[in-house]
Amino acid sequence: MENGFERPMTKSPGILLKGRHCIDGIALFDANLHISSEQWTCLLGRSGVGKSTILRLILGLETGGHFTGSFTASDDMPLAGRISYMAQSDLLLPWLSVLDNVCIGAHLRGEKPDIGFANDLIGRVGLFEHIDQKPNTLSGGMRQRAALARTLFEDRPIVFLDEPFSSLDAGTRADMQELATRVLKDRTVLLVTHDPAEAARIGHQIIVMSAQETHNWPVPPTPVLREINDPQTLVCQAKLLDYLRGIAA
Ligand SMILES: Nc1ncnc2c1ncn2[C@@H]1O[C@H](COP(=O)(O)OP(=O)(O)O)[C@@H](O)[C@H]1O
Ligand SMILES: [Mg+2]
Repeated sequence: MENGFERPMTKSPGILLKGRHCIDGIALFDANLHISSEQWTCLLGRSGVGKSTILRLILGLETGGHFTGSFTASDDMPLAGRISYMAQSDLLLPWLSVLDNVCIGAHLRGEKPDIGFANDLIGRVGLFEHIDQKPNTLSGGMRQRAALARTLFEDRPIVFLDEPFSSLDAGTRADMQELATRVLKDRTVLLVTHDPAEAARIGHQIIVMSAQETHNWPVPPTPVLREINDPQTLVCQAKLLDYLRGIAA
């Protein structure tokens, strides 16, 4: 139990998605994604290109459009019930405390939450002193960390994180990246981000999305979680930023 969070579980599957998504009959994107088993896949692309829509499609949530194609788990088992999701907006319930928000999944399933684990996570996201507070008394960054703790609390093999660190200052962001990669070790993670530095540091795989295609971006050869000042990570970050500035949605 090197990191204190490991739990026995079966192998986390990858996901294959291929198809076209249209809104009002107009194609938004063509995508061909291979989200690798037990790895972190970072998905980048211009605002509005359809990154959140991809997550919502796989989750079976409303997208406002029509998808023609398929998405399947690499183990051919149903995806339903195997994905935890941190949405782009924090979706905290305003009438519940931080602790109850973190435990909401267990409460809704009628399970007894592991309060020790919840307390530990809330401490690690730096909110222990705010554990009884309601979301409207927290800053944007604190709310995002509460939502992160709630997502990490769910013990699922697949995890979707939609811009999970976007409201955090640079130091806290690095801390939360380290926490998330430790807790989600061996999970299949799909992370949407606008931050090339984050993708270069955290991604086993980087996918860049435009309306026309999704393609894999070369990642540094060093193992994740990469050092912030690793030269190859810095080169990857710079080249990716350069590329993102040049592509159309
Ligand atoms: N529920 C919805 N109904 C109609 N259009 C939507 C809905 N959700 C997203 N869209 C549209 O789909 C496009 C892609 O949105 P989104 O996936 O949120 O982009 P991204 O996450 O890449 O910024 C946008 O043009 C957005 O307006
Ligand atoms: Mg989005």
